[in-house]
Amino acid sequence: MDKAYNIIYHTHDILVVGAGGAGLRAAATASAANANVACISKVSPTRSHTVAAQGGINAALGNRGKDNWQWHAYDTVRGSDWLGDQDAIAIMCEKAPEAIIELEQMGMPFTRDDEGQIYQRAYGGQKTDFGKGGLAYRACAVADRTGHALLHTLYSQALQQNVEFFVEYSALDLIFDEQRKCLGLLAWEMESGDLHVFQAHITILATGGFGQIYEATTASTICTGDGNAMVLRAGLALQDMEFIQFHPTSLYGSGILITEGARGEGAYLTNANGERFMERYAPNYMELASRDVISRAMIQEILAGRGCGDKKDHLHLRLEHLDANMIDGKLPSIKEIVKTFARLDIHKHSIPIIPAVHYTMGGIPTNSQSQVIDGNGNIVEGLLAIGETACTSVHGANRLGCNALLELVVFGKSAGEMAASITAKPKSHKEITNAMLEKALSHLSNLQNLKGNTTPNKLRKELQKTMHEYGNIFRTRELLEKGNKKLGDLWQIMNNDLKIADNSLIWNNDLLDAVETDNLLRLAIATLNSALNRTESRGAHFRADFPKRDDENWLVHSLVSLNEAGKVSLAVRPVRLENEEKTISFPLEERGY
Ligand code: FUM
Repeated sequence: MDKAYNIIYHTHDILVVGAGGAGLRAAATASAANANVACISKVSPTRSHTVAAQGGINAALGNRGKDNWQWHAYDTVRGSDWLGDQDAIAIMCEKAPEAIIELEQMGMPFTRDDEGQIYQRAYGGQKTDFGKGGLAYRACAVADRTGHALLHTLYSQALQQNVEFFVEYSALDLIFDEQRKCLGLLAWEMESGDLHVFQAHITILATGGFGQIYEATTASTICTGDGNAMVLRAGLALQDMEFIQFHPTSLYGSGILITEGARGEGAYLTNANGERFMERYAPNYMELASRDVISRAMIQEILAGRGCGDKKDHLHLRLEHLDANMIDGKLPSIKEIVKTFARLDIHKHSIPIIPAVHYTMGGIPTNSQSQVIDGNGNIVEGLLAIGETACTSVHGANRLGCNALLELVVFGKSAGEMAASITAKPKSHKEITNAMLEKALSHLSNLQNLKGNTTPNKLRKELQKTMHEYGNIFRTRELLEKGNKKLGDLWQIMNNDLKIADNSLIWNNDLLDAVETDNLLRLAIATLNSALNRTESRGAHFRADFPKRDDENWLVHSLVSLNEAGKVSLAVRPVRLENEEKTISFPLEERGY
């Protein structure tokens, strides 16, 4: 380390890292239970990526036809291609109705039906009666701005509960003692350039996903998997990294999300011949099959030469037949987005769309109580993970639409409660020694002092292009091996040829870019290696050279870790196929839509 840093120390009972839906729910809950809570965020909380969620949040309220939480759990297990942990899925689905009522009571402005009840729409992969009945209307919506409304509701709760916010602080690395108990985190305050050590009895990681490893993604630029990368750097494994969700409908040309809620309201997909091609791929669920099935079908249509436009490289989403008042009331943002970014009127024109990366199912492995677990299943003391950064695993190999916001609020609340109960008895903080900080500080110092030829931005773009080319919807050994080789080259550039224009710590976007790109590169390596290792097709992970699900060998979670030389280690762990209370246990079935 060749630079002395100005470090400011803070102590709290609980540190929440990330101010999206999960972080805010956890912070507000813990603070309401009298814990002293700090929440750090690299952006203003209302800019967190939860704000981009559109169509809804699932709960079997039954406001629009019969429904119950076991049917919801069945659809979730089926959607996960049986890789989801059924103990965690049972918790999420059973607690969903209560979670929605709590949000309503906090003031979340849900859209209402004619009876004044919360409006619910249909979403992909969800039916009643364990998949045998009609469509399930389960997604509770605030028009098509559900994430926006949720985030603002939870932020106001957190402010009301006096959570202490540290905004525009970038999390750098976790701090552990010799027994591997997490003691807190090192962060960088962008405005002052100071470093901060946040010491806490419990650290809750709620840093979101890592969709930015791909070129075309609905994930905002802040989704760089900072929490996941910190866990990897701490020598812990990540889980199920190969499962990357492509959302079927992003706006062609800009990648902006066009909500699945549109299809829930009756929109459908057509190819260049005007055919509703989903008839060929999912005759029972059509445009409301699960996202992995629809995205693959779309690429197959394009590969067969039935894509739209001069380049035959996209498809159409059609809403022209839908009632104009319904569109204006229930899908106003979609109308506005398409008008602004494609200059089209959705009342009259079809929307050009293409699949884009939307969600990362893998992440930090936890048990159903959100406690982080190591590769042997042992609890890592002092560390919880929630939301997209975690792999709890309620989504398994493929997430159902509207289960993400639900996961945030259910596990955000329970993590906040658990953290508050652990910290309820006063206890002293263990001293954080210089030795405990050394690794984190030298990581920063190394990045800060790189004097090569490649800018972080150029490297990030190369990385995103590589993932797009070699880790896309259809994968093969050959592609994945080539992709891994390219990532190996980028690792060399990252460590030996990166150029940081100036090494100041005050609002140094170039350095922030380097910190995030380093995180992304580690996560990309973990993703492609896990994808190469899993020689089967399950949910969103499709291997054209192994097109079948292989339960005999692969009904297991993948674990991946990465050392400082960029070398990967792989392992597996069993899937939890039932919950302790035995309220659900859905045996394996073939998954078709
Ligand atoms: O299409 C959507 O509205 C996305 C929802 C989700 O990913 O949960």
